[in-house]
Amino acid sequence: MSKPLNVGMIGYGFMGRAHSNAYRRVNNFFDLKYHPVLKAACARSADQIKVFADQWGYESIETDWRKLIERKDIDVVDICVPNNLHSEIALACAAAGKMILCEKPLAMNGPEALKMVEAVEKAGVANMVWYNYRRVPAVSLAKQLIDEGRLGRIFHYRSQFLQDWTIKSDLPQGGNGLWRLDVEAAGSGVSGDLLAHCIDTALWLNGPITTLNAMTETFVKERMHNLTGKVEKVGIDDACIFMGRHANGSLCVFESTRYARGHKALYTLEINGENASIQWDLHDLHRLQYFDYRDDSIIRGWHSIHVSDGDQPYMSKWWVPGLQIGYEHSFVHQVADFIEGISNGKPAMPDFRDAYHTQLVLDAVLASAKKHEWLDVQQG
Ligand SMILES: NC(=O)c1ccc[n+]([C@@H]2O[C@H](COP(=O)([O-])OP(=O)(O)OC[C@H]3O[C@@H](n4cnc5c(N)ncnc54)[C@H](O)[C@@H]3O)[C@@H](O)[C@H]2O)c1
Repeated sequence: MSKPLNVGMIGYGFMGRAHSNAYRRVNNFFDLKYHPVLKAACARSADQIKVFADQWGYESIETDWRKLIERKDIDVVDICVPNNLHSEIALACAAAGKMILCEKPLAMNGPEALKMVEAVEKAGVANMVWYNYRRVPAVSLAKQLIDEGRLGRIFHYRSQFLQDWTIKSDLPQGGNGLWRLDVEAAGSGVSGDLLAHCIDTALWLNGPITTLNAMTETFVKERMHNLTGKVEKVGIDDACIFMGRHANGSLCVFESTRYARGHKALYTLEINGENASIQWDLHDLHRLQYFDYRDDSIIRGWHSIHVSDGDQPYMSKWWVPGLQIGYEHSFVHQVADFIEGISNGKPAMPDFRDAYHTQLVLDAVLASAKKHEWLDVQQG
């Protein structure tokens, strides 16, 4: 019999829904020692959070996140709000002894993230950051192939995350739905929003990035601000490109933009090793492309692996070989691994400290772009 794990959800937007779905489904597919109970959902508007709570089956609502954290019947708090609120909420959770699942990027910058790391470590509370792409089975399989040494020495890591939704120059910034364009709420633009995912996956698959040189651009310099009603300077990066070097000697190149007309969420990665290469593409997320130079020359070529077999990561929990799963399952896997971690004392990654490394790369990216200089990445 599994024990209840009472969840307090803060935020009811895109991630509030993705995570709630994961909590509801996880025990149907994974045998775990705990089962999430949707205890309370919180947002500023009582009417809106009530609709969300009813739709997803939360038992109660709160309109002030501080009240939610004070509640004795909440074990774990899930932070699904804009980036500028992560730190304050997480620090309060740690002080109250609550476990924390925090959305990415962990914080607005490295120093803020470090305070969060220190707080959770001092409080001894379980913590994790939702860099969910690690748990897309094809990406988990890439990790397995690399760890097995199949690629050999790695020469190159390249990754892109391309979107096109902010090209319109009359799109306002700030407020509901558009906080990503407001530097006060988001901290940065595509670097913290999109490249953060690429960086987390890169550090996981290919180890630390030691040095880098970055360039950012803000194509639309002023936008009407929804909160002030005035036209204001845009403080975020609309596009960001950087190149660098990993500690293992491989070279890396990253690009992210919201101005790539025709691309909605094209997250791709490619790794070239001495023996083999790997490619992955979010638009075809259940496939991993694999090329192995050691194959017999007459059949050598790119394998398109349909990641749906029970031998492949997470897939034995789902359907039968040949039937693929989707985006939402990465969150189910993350909840399952978090619960495994608190059950067996081996915390699931990325925890706050792990995600802090991504934050340090982001800090170096933004500083390098500002200074027009190569910078070493602080290793934390
Ligand atoms: N892991 C991923 O792939 C992924 C994808 C999207 C977003 N995110 C991250 O998730 C977080 C939320 O993004 P989103 O897309 O869900 O945003 P969203 O705009 O869809 O939702 C934000 C929610 O925060 C709530 N909110 C804002 N201020 C609040 C406050 N003071 N108290 C309580 N609630 C408040 C809003 O009411 C809303 O429900 C961000 O940090 C973002 O970077 C991660």
